[in-house]
Amino acid sequence: MNSPVNVLILAAGLGTRMKSDQAKVLHRLGSRPLIAHVLRTAAALNPESIIVVVGHQADKVEAAARSAFADPAMAERLQFVTQDKQLGTGHAVKCATEAIKKTRGNLVVFYGDTPAVKASTLQNLIVAHETGKHAATLVTIKLDPPPAYGRIIRNEKGSFLKIVEQRDCSPEQAAITELNPGFYCFDVPALLDALEKLSPQNAQGEYYLTDVPQHMLAAGLTVGTVFHEDAHELDGINNRAELAAMWKRVRLETLNRLMVEGVSVVDPDSTYIDASVQIGRDTVIHPQVIIEGDSRIGANCEIHSWTRLVNVDIGDGCKVLNSCVLVDTKLTANNSVGPFAHLRMHAELAEEAVVGNFVEVKKSRLGRKTKSMHLTYLGDATIGDRVNIGAATVTCNYDGKQKHPTIIEDDVKIGSDTMLVAPVKVGRGAMTGAGSVVTKDVPEDTLVAGVPAQIKRKLKQ
Ligand code: UD1
Ligand code: CA
Repeated sequence: MNSPVNVLILAAGLGTRMKSDQAKVLHRLGSRPLIAHVLRTAAALNPESIIVVVGHQADKVEAAARSAFADPAMAERLQFVTQDKQLGTGHAVKCATEAIKKTRGNLVVFYGDTPAVKASTLQNLIVAHETGKHAATLVTIKLDPPPAYGRIIRNEKGSFLKIVEQRDCSPEQAAITELNPGFYCFDVPALLDALEKLSPQNAQGEYYLTDVPQHMLAAGLTVGTVFHEDAHELDGINNRAELAAMWKRVRLETLNRLMVEGVSVVDPDSTYIDASVQIGRDTVIHPQVIIEGDSRIGANCEIHSWTRLVNVDIGDGCKVLNSCVLVDTKLTANNSVGPFAHLRMHAELAEEAVVGNFVEVKKSRLGRKTKSMHLTYLGDATIGDRVNIGAATVTCNYDGKQKHPTIIEDDVKIGSDTMLVAPVKVGRGAMTGAGSVVTKDVPEDTLVAGVPAQIKRKLKQ
């Protein structure tokens, strides 16, 4: 690909067939809304801009679009255009005329309801478009019997003539199995000319984008087609049954990819992993695990049943036992978590740190070989190496108005049922007695106990 690429995505429709209060592109495939899937795929083309036509629930669709990218640089390339009345896909593109005029090179156009399309498919489209020097190039597929897609009409020599929407088809045209899945690459000036020629004289009274190619041919320009073998990759989602069917296909494809790469998936039927997840060799995923978002899991890990991981970064040799929830969490290496643990909001465990039963860790870091095994809440805490946190410890981080930090230095022993009333710091090598309520900083190598905790003695001279 030589020329710059820009992408236009149509996402203004409500999606009547979803029977939903929510715009169609906000419905989720796996953990991400449809609009996020198409935008992430578009971003893989490294486009100069991605223009999104929004209409129904424009604010929500825009918000979902902006949060699609992990990389904020890509979000800066997003532009939004509003289509107030949904007068058809051709009208939607026309609404974006001003934005399109500012683009250079090729314009790739597709619909926001086709979340499984792969970047390689769009790349092939662009290559065919450039090689053929066409005014427009479109992808075609074959499905027999044909679903309610636009039919590709060719002449007796097999040259492309036009697209006819199913509702406008004669019985002969309706029998055609070569179809328009809705992926186009355009020369911008030719597109802008053809848009002027669209009319709503059709069964739906809409301005069809699919009429653009025939107007280009009439103007003496050429239109190319690229046949795509995997028709279902390009499915447009129109109702919830199609959405569920597509999620199943995408999910099994992801699991197969992971198994080929050396991951053991004990029961693919009950395992739910987003396509964006990376997992290392010899890691075992037990039944009924859910892994979402931009999660990365290293090699030789074990993820046990009924656990949900969202945007986690897990190093090699880690174990997550049954029924844990980890969100935005980092496990460095050789950590063990759970069963029944909840780690969230940038929780981080350094090498070999262990978090056990019924422990919640929020926005806290546990140092190397530090252990918190039972019934504990650690919030806004920075905890050093080789610390032992006794059962039922609580960092009392919230005073009803604000959150406060707790600092626990290396080699500290926190006795069972200690309340650490933040802000508070426990010095290196110190110890708290069982049931202490620590309201003041604890000096290094000192034993404190009681309510409120008092210094009992020095532990080292
Ligand atoms: C469209 C194509 C059809 C193709 C099919 C593939 C047209 C006229 N038809 O039909 O040939 O086989 O996709 O899935 O293009 N949208 C707007 N504004 C509008 C209308 C639609 O932004 O005024 C957006 C919708 O939000 C949706 C997309 O365009 O994301 C496609 O619209 P939809 O109504 O689903 O088109 P289809 O009837 O499926
Ligand atoms: Ca559709």
